[in-house]
This record gives sequence, structure tokens and C-alpha cells, in this order.
Amino acid sequence: MQNIPVILLGVGGVGSALIQQVVANRPLHAAEYGIEFALKAICDGDGAVIALDAGLDDPTLLDLVDYKARKGRLAMYGQGGPQNDLVAIIDIAGRTGAIVVDCTASETTVPALLYALERKYRVVLANKKPLTLEQEMYDRLTRAGATAGNRTIPRQPRIRWETTCGAGLPVIVTLNRLVAAGDPVTRIAGAFSGTLGFVMTGLQQGLPFSAVVREAYDLGYTEPDPRDDLGGIDVARKALILARGLGWRLKLSDIDVTGLYPQSMSNLSVNEFMAALPELDSHFRMLVDEAATSGKVLRYAATIADGHCTVGAQAVDVSSPLGRLQGTDNLVEFHTRWYRPAPLVVQGRGAGTDATAAGVLAEMVELAAGL
Ligand SMILES: NC(=O)c1ccc[n+]([C@@H]2O[C@H](COP(=O)([O-])OP(=O)(O)OC[C@H]3O[C@@H](n4cnc5c(N)ncnc54)[C@H](OP(=O)(O)O)[C@@H]3O)[C@@H](O)[C@H]2O)c1
Repeated sequence: MQNIPVILLGVGGVGSALIQQVVANRPLHAAEYGIEFALKAICDGDGAVIALDAGLDDPTLLDLVDYKARKGRLAMYGQGGPQNDLVAIIDIAGRTGAIVVDCTASETTVPALLYALERKYRVVLANKKPLTLEQEMYDRLTRAGATAGNRTIPRQPRIRWETTCGAGLPVIVTLNRLVAAGDPVTRIAGAFSGTLGFVMTGLQQGLPFSAVVREAYDLGYTEPDPRDDLGGIDVARKALILARGLGWRLKLSDIDVTGLYPQSMSNLSVNEFMAALPELDSHFRMLVDEAATSGKVLRYAATIADGHCTVGAQAVDVSSPLGRLQGTDNLVEFHTRWYRPAPLVVQGRGAGTDATAAGVLAEMVELAAGL
């Protein structure tokens, strides 16, 4: 039995679901892969719980999940303490073969991730931020060595980031296989936001924009401030990760992002913003009608093609995979030399803490078992 040390950064929705799934799947991992994950350190924003020898036992792990669900701080937990240096935590808790899992939503984990890779540990990211900073940082995380002149540095095999695009869906692995096989990807088009998918489906059904955004908000599909979804920046981060996965060298500001509300509504409070939404109804009604006259429907999509990434409401053929998409599913079309005229399509639930944690866990198993 291989004992795999794990250091978990972030124990919110995804991190907590991951802990539960690690515990629930112990018999499977032992029988099928001969591995056992030992959680040596778990960190939140300002605290950590560390168990150096055998790792945290399962009753403690499940108690920690419960404690965090009750908004507890790890700094105040019985076996916990304050932390303000993730590099130091990795230094203390890391062991040969360790996996560092980033389930935060913060770019402050980057020094710890670089340190982990330097120590030859493995890294799994649910967190998009480290991969969407400047290109140099992306290279340092994903390339196996320092850049030397124009020499291309091979890909780093010890880091995985499947859940950064489409949660548990096999989007990145699909992209990587196309790249590995030298199949030129001519275009990627994707709907990466369940919330915006819900909004677009509502518009297609004839609902006013304000009503469908209000419904998404009331159902808890949006962030507490719906502009965090409607602005499109999260979709742009996913598009950037895909474009960089193709080998393109670009930054977030190179992506042409059009949000679903005007700049003039940025400074309103959430309540004022919600109250002002009906001002946008006629604009969206016009866009939907215009698209319909040419057999198209509106989708909030990212398109990566011809050296450009665009993110915004786009009119797509009603008979295309994106055009047929309904509701909150994510969908990605890969148009390549071997996949044409019909693209390779990945579709399904693209969010949710359990599905995301399952995607993270799968990558931990793959790294640990050398799959
Ligand atoms: N939820 C989804 O459906 C989904 C899908 C795909 C990808 N993701 C990505 O997965 C990540 C986690 O999502 P989530 O929904 O679990 O977020 P969340 O509930 O907000 O949890 C984030 C966790 O990270 C911790 N944290 C923040 N800064 C930290 C730091 N510097 N060091 C250590 N811990 C830190 C937070 O600590 P405190 O508890 O102290 O605040 C919290 O425990 C995000 O990057 C998200 O984009 C989520």
C-alpha cells in the first residue's frame, strides 16, 4: 500500500467535499490502486490543522468538515493554529510523493505551489487564479524547468488542473489529448457558465432579461453580486486557460470580454442593480429577435480561434451543439482536423462542489497511481 501525503489548501465547499470523498473512497483506492491518502495538513485563510505522522484520522477529518460548515476558523480548532505562510506549511508537512491540492480561490497560493513543484511534489488545482496570472507564472507552473532562451521547455507532468474549466467535465484532458496527438485545433467554442446558460435559455423562451436574472438570483445560481457572473470575467479566465493549453501566449487583458450589463451599472449597490435591470430588457429582446431571424440563438460563449479569444453573448446556429444547449449545463466544442465537420463535444454539469471535488480526487488518484 502506497501512503500518499496530501496538503489541502482551502476547505470551503470544494475542499470539504473533497475530504468527504477521500474518506468515503478509501476502500476503493486501496483495492483498485493500492493507495491511501494521508491528509497531513489542511489550511484555510488564516489557520491550519497539521498531523505529521499518519495524517489526520477520519473522525477528525469529518469533524473538520462539520466545523468549517459552521463557519469555524482552523486557527481556533482544537488541533489547529494560525498560519500565514503556506510555504512553511508545505515545508513542514510535505514528504516525498506529496500532493498539494489548491481548493482556494486566491492567487496568494502561487509561491506555495511553485515551492511544492520545486520539491518534486505533485499539484492539483481547482483554483483558476494561478493559471491566469502573467504568462511567465503560467510557464513556471506548467513547464518542467526554467526557460532557456527560445528553447521550448516540455510540459510539467506533476501538475493537473482539470476542474478549472467545466468542474468535473473532461475538458482539459480532451484538449491535452488533441494537442498530444498533433491534431490542430482550429476553434474551441464553449459555454462555461451554468448561470449564464440559465439566463440565455430564459431569454430564448421569451422571458425578459430582468426576470430571468432575478430568478437565477433568487434560486442562488448567481454569486451574491450577480455582476460577478454577468461580467464574464470568470468565463474569460477559463478561455485563457484553454488558449494557453493550446500553446498560445496571451494574457487575460488580451481577451475581448463583453459582459451582460453596461459599465454605467458597475457602481450601483446590488439592490440598485437588480432594480435597474428592466432598463436592459429591450436591448436583449432585440438581440434575441435579430438572432432568430437568421436561424440563430443567443449563447454566452467563449470562442478561441484565429489567435483571438472572445467572450460574450454570441448568436450561434440553432442546430449546433451550443445552439441546442439548454439550462445550466456547460458545453465545449472542439473543432479540429479530425473532428469536422461535426466537432468533438464535451457536455454536462459544469459546477457544483461534489462534481468538482470528484474531478480533483480523480486527478489525485491519477497522479498517485501514475495513471
Ligand atoms: N464551487 C464550484 O462549483 C467550483 C467549480 C469549479 C472550480 N471551483 C473552484 O474551486 C475553488 C474553491 O471553490 P469553493 O467553492 O470551495 O470556494 P470557497 O467555498 O470560497 O472556499 C475557499 C476556501 O479557500 C480558503 N482560502 C482562501 N484564501 C486562502 C489562503 N491564502 N490559504 C489557504 N486557504 C485559503 C478559504 O478560507 P476561509 O474558510 O478562511 O475563508 C476557504 O476555505 C475556487 O477556486 C473555485 O473557483 C469551484
